[in-house]
Amino acid sequence: MKFLKFNTYEEMSAAAANIMAEQIKSKPNSVLGLATGSTPVGMYKKLIEMNKAGEIDFSDITTVNLDEYYPIDPANNQSYRYFMNDNLFNHINIDMDRTNVLYGLAEDPDKECERYEQLIKDLGGIDIQVLGIGQNGHIAFNEPEENLYLNTHKTALTESTIQANSRFFSEGEIMPTASLTMGMGTIFAAKKIILLINGKAKKAAFEQLLNDRFCTSCPATILKLHPDVTVICDAEVAD
Ligand code: PGA
Repeated sequence: MKFLKFNTYEEMSAAAANIMAEQIKSKPNSVLGLATGSTPVGMYKKLIEMNKAGEIDFSDITTVNLDEYYPIDPANNQSYRYFMNDNLFNHINIDMDRTNVLYGLAEDPDKECERYEQLIKDLGGIDIQVLGIGQNGHIAFNEPEENLYLNTHKTALTESTIQANSRFFSEGEIMPTASLTMGMGTIFAAKKIILLINGKAKKAAFEQLLNDRFCTSCPATILKLHPDVTVICDAEVAD
């Protein structure tokens, strides 16, 4: 695990965007694994700027997102499909048919997870995966548990994740309590991973990455075994 520390969120977002841009330039038909949440928003803004300036081209890029609430209508403004369209896809020259997000209204969620797992394999795997981290150390919706899943699967959200994310849902709106998510093995199969962490609230999770242990009670620590992970963080979390 390599660590890169920056003074501000803007600087870390620019660094993450530069790594993504290098990937896109060196392999214009890359498969990008993308994440939602507040953390990667700054990076997406930079990528939009670079695309508008003609520095990077998304026309041959394919994307696969980590997870989606279940059940949720993709048109709901809290869905991760909506988030990705709004924060990235609607602003760059990507072919929407090549943007993949798990379908939050799938009739058979297990089948949808199998389809997604196979899709990633058929695409030749993920070239670079962007990750955020939960305060409890989750990655995607792989929550701290004794047993973690390898493959894409349906899972219940923990109380702490529901608490952390319910702020985005307006009053009266029911927040889903389950999700469809890539598993640890799906994520681990990515050739390269960047893990973005900022802000004081993530300090405990960040510190678990620094010691010489890994455990399923902090799923992100398992990434210590991956050969190409770069943790990109700000001073608030690292100092
Ligand atoms: P955040 O979420 O970027 O909104 O903090 C990250 C996560 O829960 O994985």
